[in-house]
Amino acid sequence: MDRQEWQPDAARNSLARLLPRLEQAYAKEIVSRPMRWNHFKNRLHREWERLFVYLHQLYGWQYDFFYTLEQVLDRLIKCWLDRSGQLLQLDDQRESEPCWYLSESMAGIVLYVDLFSNNLAGLRQHIPYFEKLGVTYLHLMPLFSVPHGENDGGYAVSDYRAINPDLGTMEELSQLADALRERGISLVLDFVFNHTSDEHVWAQRAKAGEAEFLNYYLTYTDRTLVDRFQEHLRDIFPSVRKGSFTWRDDLQRWVWTTFNSYQWDLNYSNPAVFLAMAEEMLFLANQGVEVLRLDAVAFIWKRLGTNCENQPEAHTIIRAFNALAKIAAPATVFKSEAIVHPDEMLRYVHPDECQLSYNPLLMALLWEALATRETKLLTYSMQHRERLPFGCCWVNFVRCHDDIGWTFDDRDARDLGIDPQGHRKFLNDFYTGKYPGSFARGMPFQFNPENGDLRISGTFSSLAGLEVAIEQQDDDLIEQAVRRINMLRSIQVSIGGIPLLYAGDEYGMLNDYTFLSDATKANDSRWVHRSRRKWEDAEDRTDTDTLEWRFFHEMVKLFTLRKKLPAMRNGGMEMVDTGNAHLFAYIRGNQEQRLLIINNFSELDQRVSAARLAAAGMTENAHELFSGIVFPAGEELTIEGYRYLWIDISGRRMAEENADK
Ligand code: GLC
Repeated sequence: MDRQEWQPDAARNSLARLLPRLEQAYAKEIVSRPMRWNHFKNRLHREWERLFVYLHQLYGWQYDFFYTLEQVLDRLIKCWLDRSGQLLQLDDQRESEPCWYLSESMAGIVLYVDLFSNNLAGLRQHIPYFEKLGVTYLHLMPLFSVPHGENDGGYAVSDYRAINPDLGTMEELSQLADALRERGISLVLDFVFNHTSDEHVWAQRAKAGEAEFLNYYLTYTDRTLVDRFQEHLRDIFPSVRKGSFTWRDDLQRWVWTTFNSYQWDLNYSNPAVFLAMAEEMLFLANQGVEVLRLDAVAFIWKRLGTNCENQPEAHTIIRAFNALAKIAAPATVFKSEAIVHPDEMLRYVHPDECQLSYNPLLMALLWEALATRETKLLTYSMQHRERLPFGCCWVNFVRCHDDIGWTFDDRDARDLGIDPQGHRKFLNDFYTGKYPGSFARGMPFQFNPENGDLRISGTFSSLAGLEVAIEQQDDDLIEQAVRRINMLRSIQVSIGGIPLLYAGDEYGMLNDYTFLSDATKANDSRWVHRSRRKWEDAEDRTDTDTLEWRFFHEMVKLFTLRKKLPAMRNGGMEMVDTGNAHLFAYIRGNQEQRLLIINNFSELDQRVSAARLAAAGMTENAHELFSGIVFPAGEELTIEGYRYLWIDISGRRMAEENADK
């Protein structure tokens, strides 16, 4: 926060002027909860100065800035007054345990409600399934009211306060949040705040010619200005359309549309937009959402002459939202979705900004190492890029609803003698199955003929070789694919942060090509990994020989063990140099327990010398936690192809705790 000398006083003075007026306006509501009002005021005083500074940076130049401040304060109080008794209690609880999400008990799943259970009522029936799996974090993909037909999988929101009627109602959602919380599961939802759909009431009023709402979006009559912006922008969906602007006959203007033409970017330089979206954010928090996934954070501020990504104001806006949540809904934390260069991605992660962040670098490099059977880029990048500020943590995923993009740092690659562009081309060939001998079956996503960029779609299992192996009816290949999948899952669960499973992956879901015959989906290959759940393949299989059963129970085993291990608390992780190019190894732990985790990215047995093990801290005989095998100190260790070992090197006997062995 870049604070000028006069600001603390100015912040204090404005609050001293504004608060009594609002206390009077809300006197009736406040008087019935004096204790709680004091809590609220304490938080307000604590966060106000930084909120003031952020707002001043964003809107201080406007003649009516004091009005903006008043509106912000008014919204804060209003939203807080709307908060249910249960959530106020949760606020208290979370304030006494602010880093609750760093716990070893966190384990997540993300799903589309319609594909998983048709609707919210159906989802509620499946809470026991989540409990059986061991999940404590449930992310529902966007489920708001959206345009019929194309809506970017729900990311074109027409109304943040209405659930898509096919899925249920807002009341059902908040009841679901309560029901989940009772079972120790936190509800996670998207906050799609870069854009709305072109059917949102603000867009409709803009179309109707209301200047106030036209100013909610970024629209231009002047094509030369559009061209000047465009010069520096990259295309996000190049195979769908070129450029970031859409001409609208109804407006007789160009509209800024970073993603699809029906997703209109919001104009955050207008304080009314900030206010309106702040209200929507707090409204969602008041439905019982404990983690808000901040969608497409990189794009929310535009500046002529730049690529309009990761602008300083984008951070300021998120920090202002963070302060608002800390005041009016402190049980809510943010997760950043920044699929950008690793250095830029890290800048969104801070206790005052997004406490959680997806870890797209780890995800991409796990796939990179799987293709090459070498872990040098993975290890090197993790060594110097994974440090997060205290109180923050990664959300580790191997697959999600989106594509895989190769967002590693070019310098990292060059440092290791890897040509970054050539390597990306290799990875794309490998994962689309073009590369000779590739085990993967993925689909190309958003090929850009201008620069050769390409991303990859496909399910975890199909990309890891299961689809090809099953097609070839080759048991050895199947076994290899199963091991690859389980090894990546073990890393995801153990490396530090919240493991997030993409629903279907717990039982080995394969690609589903039926989207190709649906005109609203055919041009977006991400639908290949967004398929309807086959319940018959999931949970209740009693046939322990099936792959689905094995996958599901392996997942349960990993989650269960994670929750028992003090070493899994917090995000800390240190890389270990095994001296073997095919192994990826790290230490997780703290004073209570230390684990040495070793993963073999090749199909062949690999060795680690006794000296390297000792250097990593294995100075006594040590137990592997899944197998119970004791590795004697002072001896070389052998790890089979695509296997993983979780070795307790703290001299602590875990044997009796590992019922699942
Ligand atoms: C995020 C979502 C993606 C969507 C985009 C636009 O990146 O993950 O699915 O297309 O935002 O909202």
